[in-house]
Amino acid sequence: MKIGVISADIASESRVAITPDAVKKLRKLGFEVLIQSGAGRAAYYADELYQAAGADIASSSAEVITQSRIITTVNDLPAAAIEGLTSGQIVIGMLDPYRNTQLDTYATKGVTAFAMELLPRTLSRAQNMDVLSSQANLAGYKAVLLAANEYSRPFPMFMTSAGTVKPAKVVILGVGVAGLQAIATAKRLGAVVEASDLRPTAREQVESLGGKWLDVPMSAEEAETAKSTGGYAWTPSEQYVKDQAAVVDKALSNADIVITTAQIPGRNAPRLVHGATLAKMKAGSVLIDMAAGTGGNVEGSVPNETITTDNGVRIVGAANIPSMLAAQSSDLYANNLVNFITTLIAPASDDASASDASANLALKLDMEDEIQGALAVTHNSQVRLAKR
Ligand code: NAI
Repeated sequence: MKIGVISADIASESRVAITPDAVKKLRKLGFEVLIQSGAGRAAYYADELYQAAGADIASSSAEVITQSRIITTVNDLPAAAIEGLTSGQIVIGMLDPYRNTQLDTYATKGVTAFAMELLPRTLSRAQNMDVLSSQANLAGYKAVLLAANEYSRPFPMFMTSAGTVKPAKVVILGVGVAGLQAIATAKRLGAVVEASDLRPTAREQVESLGGKWLDVPMSAEEAETAKSTGGYAWTPSEQYVKDQAAVVDKALSNADIVITTAQIPGRNAPRLVHGATLAKMKAGSVLIDMAAGTGGNVEGSVPNETITTDNGVRIVGAANIPSMLAAQSSDLYANNLVNFITTLIAPASDDASASDASANLALKLDMEDEIQGALAVTHNSQVRLAKR
């Protein structure tokens, strides 16, 4: 059975879905691997490295599509590639399911499409497949370096004969996987860090990393809801949003660096920093909006652009930070995919109908399985995505 690897559009994406190391693991499982020539180049994986790991090289995406049973990708496939798919093929990638306009086409083609973002994250056996965590972890780290690079002062305190240099004040809004890594990185660089999140449970994590918690008042009812959502963000009341804006306004008036990471799966990112607050910020301060690609946490942020406001505040619309660490983020992403693919196969005798005798491997597609059922956005010619 062949697994194909499609090259991403390198203008916007440097990652690759399968690395040479992952090829070795897939070969060990019994798969053949076909890589579109140049697919790994932007992540510093040349075709020769794939060949040395046991993969074949295809000259075009069409060749990969026609020859592979399973197609792996970083982002959604381009329309032309989907057009070439046929019934029974499997596509695995970060398909951005809630904003994906091509799901009907996948379904009509009879393709089983797995969107890795839909993984049930609290399931312990799924944790090594968690692409959101693996990519957000790296992104949180890199966001701090991007900010440090944009900022015209250092992060740590310096005592020099010419005077004392004050440490940078960093505010992190949204303390999930990326936010926690951003706190740890900013602290390592010597900054003073404050952070806030909708989830009160994040407070302990912020404090354990040496950050100061920015508390937003919450009603008893909201505190109960926050607890019952099992760690995931809940929908805040109008009063909470108002109180949060006041807390953010105060913290940002003194901040040098702001990193925003707040996302809501399947919906636009919440607006956390408004124009009125930006107007109070210091000239030279820097905001990194990690949610710029999904609507933006910061008013006026533009995906993949850095803009400077009239009062000299720089807003970086960081829509795809993992792609800036393409070698490492591809390694982790590929490991996540291999771990998931491992769950799709079974000894040939287990499922004779889906067996692929030529490779002596059998696919075990099972929509009752907690992981497969959650990830499959199309199967048996149906779109299976629950509305949000
Ligand atoms: P994310 O990328 O979806 O969002 C980042 C953070 O923004 C989250 O902490 C969220 O609470 C916060 N946020 C959303 N809306 C907000 C608002 N209006 N104001 C302030 N903050 C807001 O989050 P990520 O990093 O994917 O993690 C989401 C949750 O999943 C967290 O509770 C995390 O601890 C949990 N998680 C659990 C795992 C596990 O159990 N194995 C693995 C990974 C994450």
